[in-house]
Amino acid sequence: MDIAYFRQEVIVVLFIENHSCFMQIINSLGADFQEYLSQYRWKKKPQNLYEPSEYILQLGGKRMRPILVLMATEALGGNRSMAMHAALAVEFFHNFTLVHDDIMDAAPLRRKSPTVHSRWGNNVAILSGDVLFAKSLACLEAYPPHSYKSLTKLLIQTAIEVCEGQQMDMDFEQQKEVLMADYIEMIRLKTAVLVGAAMQMGALVAEKNESVQKQLYDFGIQLGIAFQLQDDYLDTFGDAKTFGKQIGGDILENKKTYLFIKALENAVPEQRAALLALYADNGLFPDKKIREVQEIFVETQAEQFLLEEIKQYTQRALRALKEADLPSGSKEIFEHFAFELMHRRT
Ligand code: IPE
Ligand code: IPE
Ligand code: MG
Ligand code: MG
Ligand code: MG
Repeated sequence: MDIAYFRQEVIVVLFIENHSCFMQIINSLGADFQEYLSQYRWKKKPQNLYEPSEYILQLGGKRMRPILVLMATEALGGNRSMAMHAALAVEFFHNFTLVHDDIMDAAPLRRKSPTVHSRWGNNVAILSGDVLFAKSLACLEAYPPHSYKSLTKLLIQTAIEVCEGQQMDMDFEQQKEVLMADYIEMIRLKTAVLVGAAMQMGALVAEKNESVQKQLYDFGIQLGIAFQLQDDYLDTFGDAKTFGKQIGGDILENKKTYLFIKALENAVPEQRAALLALYADNGLFPDKKIREVQEIFVETQAEQFLLEEIKQYTQRALRALKEADLPSGSKEIFEHFAFELMHRRT
């Protein structure tokens, strides 16, 4: 056998072995978190408060944020079970934002199921979201006073920023055009700060200093931006069966996503006029509006540019990770996780 070919084979085999090893660890973190969540005792009354909260949580999802909390704690030599309360806090918080976000975005589907507000109405969805937010803070009471204070401060600051990002997102719906830098700032706030916070919480639970906390936070920010870019991609070009949300929802809500902004940047005058007219018209048949906007996103190569941008932000995340003071051998799992996210379809 040709030696170069043989080497390549060995590299492929090692890659696959590493891949399945990392997947096993990630899956085991997810399973342990699931087990911990299943032990959570929900109050039964008032039923219209707790049933929707339990409903959204048991629908699942990727559990990316709690997995990151656990992964960060373990990578820094901390204890998985100590990190569970923080992981649950982050997942409660995330689910609170989803329930409210679905009202704002008039979304019918989440995790392949009806959204809370479409099943129970807006008032119930507002309140069950609120109670999840309060519960997320309550989870942190399990920590000793010095950790409790830092974790709570971080989650509150994150909550403020997520609100800012969500308001910008809605304001942009009403604006005809949005600058790319403003869009990136909006997704940093609405999505990436929570991914950063999940990483930092892992470092806090492992009792690491502020410099390490900041390094992990920065990795989370870049990863979170890549993640939201990918979410925007899947919203327009994904498959509803795997994505679990309505395809084209962003287009119907006139969201100023990366695709829209880049399409306008790249468009010839006819494409520009057509895209602006489609976004200005809310009376079109939904399928027609989605199809025609998708076509412009493809023709202007906004789709290709977006895929490239997702890679760029993933690379930035990996560069931030390289700088971080993590024990040798513990970075690969994050690299692997970032790579998996970039190729996700869900
Ligand atoms: C959805 O987050 C909200 C965004 C920030 C894009 P996820 O895609 O992590 O949702 P689940 O938890 O897996 O359902
Ligand atoms: C929402 O972004 C981010 C938050 C929930 C704070 P999206 O509106 O794109 O999230 P999805 O696509 O509905 O999950
Ligand atoms: Mg939404
Ligand atoms: Mg939204
Ligand atoms: Mg989305």
